[in-house]
Amino acid sequence: MAYVVTEPCIKCKHTDCVTQCPVICFHEGANFLVIDPDDCIDCGACVDPCPVNAIYPAEAVPAKWQDYIALNKQYAQEWPEITQKKDPLPEAGDFAAVPEKRELFDTAPGTGDAG
Ligand code: SF4
Ligand code: F3S
Repeated sequence: MAYVVTEPCIKCKHTDCVTQCPVICFHEGANFLVIDPDDCIDCGACVDPCPVNAIYPAEAVPAKWQDYIALNKQYAQEWPEITQKKDPLPEAGDFAAVPEKRELFDTAPGTGDAG
């Protein structure tokens, strides 16, 4: 199994998670990060640093967010790697407590460590 980034990350993208990862798992989209399940070693170090509690082990992803397991796998192949923290999105505070953000998921890539 692997760890999975779920809906609370959308439009927040704090990136505290990436600095704790001992391997290179995280990939950056425009308003979301994903974990590559093929690289994750299941250490759990990324869970507590996330201010919006977006990360779960795959076997514990809430039922309403099961589709994020496939989204992490898919977009890890399409988005660039990110290993360094950057500023959260400017709207992160406004969106931290928004309960339904799935329709805001942006499939565009982020800049990763390049920007
Ligand atoms: Fe990286 Fe560990 Fe989180 Fe997997 S569980 S993404 S290896 S910090
Ligand atoms: Fe997203 Fe939380 Fe990481 S908001 S970028 S999963 S620290």
